[in-house]
Amino acid sequence: EVKQFFSYHLLEWYQGQKRDLPWRRHRNPYYIWISEIMLQQTRVDTVIPYFNRFIERFPTVESLADAPEEDVLKCWEGLGYYSRARNIQHAAKQVKELYGGQVPNDREAVFSLKGVGPYTAGAILSIAFNRPEPAVDGNVMRVLSRYFLIEDDIAKGPTRVKMERLAAELIPEGEAASFNQALMELGALVCTPKSPSCLTCPVMEHCAARLAGCETSLPVKTKA
Ligand code: ADE
Repeated sequence: EVKQFFSYHLLEWYQGQKRDLPWRRHRNPYYIWISEIMLQQTRVDTVIPYFNRFIERFPTVESLADAPEEDVLKCWEGLGYYSRARNIQHAAKQVKELYGGQVPNDREAVFSLKGVGPYTAGAILSIAFNRPEPAVDGNVMRVLSRYFLIEDDIAKGPTRVKMERLAAELIPEGEAASFNQALMELGALVCTPKSPSCLTCPVMEHCAARLAGCETSLPVKTKA
């Protein structure tokens, strides 16, 4: 069926095509968390050197929690959205004090960390702990809206909830970490906003938007 086809072929494609990114080399929850915060508003190519410097300078949650704030901001310089850096240090102190320095493997606890919203929580729980939680960002909404021809406005809250339900349903048993990253990877490399590379897409065959010829008009997004 159309959903199983999607999950199976996307995962298969990812195993063969995934980029070698520094935060994919270890399944260290702290690395996953830092990388996801950096990747929220910044491109992968820009993030890589910042990520490498950051974990070299602050190799553990505790080292980040105990550092002077100005050192953390200095390490973030040029990445922008500096509240992310302040939140990350605040959250490191939370992890140190409440969870013994270990990023928690628990929905409520991850959500309670400063700067961690639904997307980041889902990304940490799935990528670091392989828990079957959806991690739906703009890239993922684009992929899903096209493949399933969903014309709801992605700027609206209920659309995100619908997408999260769908994304959770699609996760193959025991494959949350790879599958969620596969969705992000497809959005970044193939199912791009303006000119998607449908001919190299592993799931083109059953993509509803492609079949209808409307892939570039999706997702629907109203201006805020
Ligand atoms: N964008 C957001 N999270 C990502 C990840 N883990 N890998 C690549 N791109 C991403």
